[in-house]
Amino acid sequence: MQKTFSIIKPDAVASGKAGNILAHLETEGFRIVALRMTRLSLSVAGGFYAVHKERPFYNSLVNFMTEGPVVLMALEREDAVKKLREVMGATNPANAADGTIRKLYAESIERNAIHGSDAPETAAQELAYFFTSVELNQL
Ligand code: CMP
Repeated sequence: MQKTFSIIKPDAVASGKAGNILAHLETEGFRIVALRMTRLSLSVAGGFYAVHKERPFYNSLVNFMTEGPVVLMALEREDAVKKLREVMGATNPANAADGTIRKLYAESIERNAIHGSDAPETAAQELAYFFTSVELNQL
């Protein structure tokens, strides 16, 4: 079993798709280990996306991620990191395969409904950024 980290982004929460996305993830075999709805501050969102600091879209991305509530999730299943990336679809919904979460719910390359960690090492860092070890291991 492997854990990964995911965020239902402000666009999908605002459009009322958070429940559909959670159901989609459970249908794909992910167990919800930890879950929290919150609104990210500029410093928390900026820190989370620090790896993209030099990218032209960084400021816009951080503003978007703070515009409304998000749902933070720790998810578990076999091969969770890779499987979540498949289920999410391509970053740009225009390139996402039919049936993927981004194809179904994303608006644009930035407002793309969901985040998922890109590697096991990133998943460990991102899980620890938002959840305590007690939250990740209690249930
Ligand atoms: P995510 O998987 O959370 O990782 C980084 C985020 O930056 C990505 O989803 C998008 O929301 C955003 N992003 C990536 N590429 C671009 C781009 N070319 N223009 C605007 N936003 C982008």
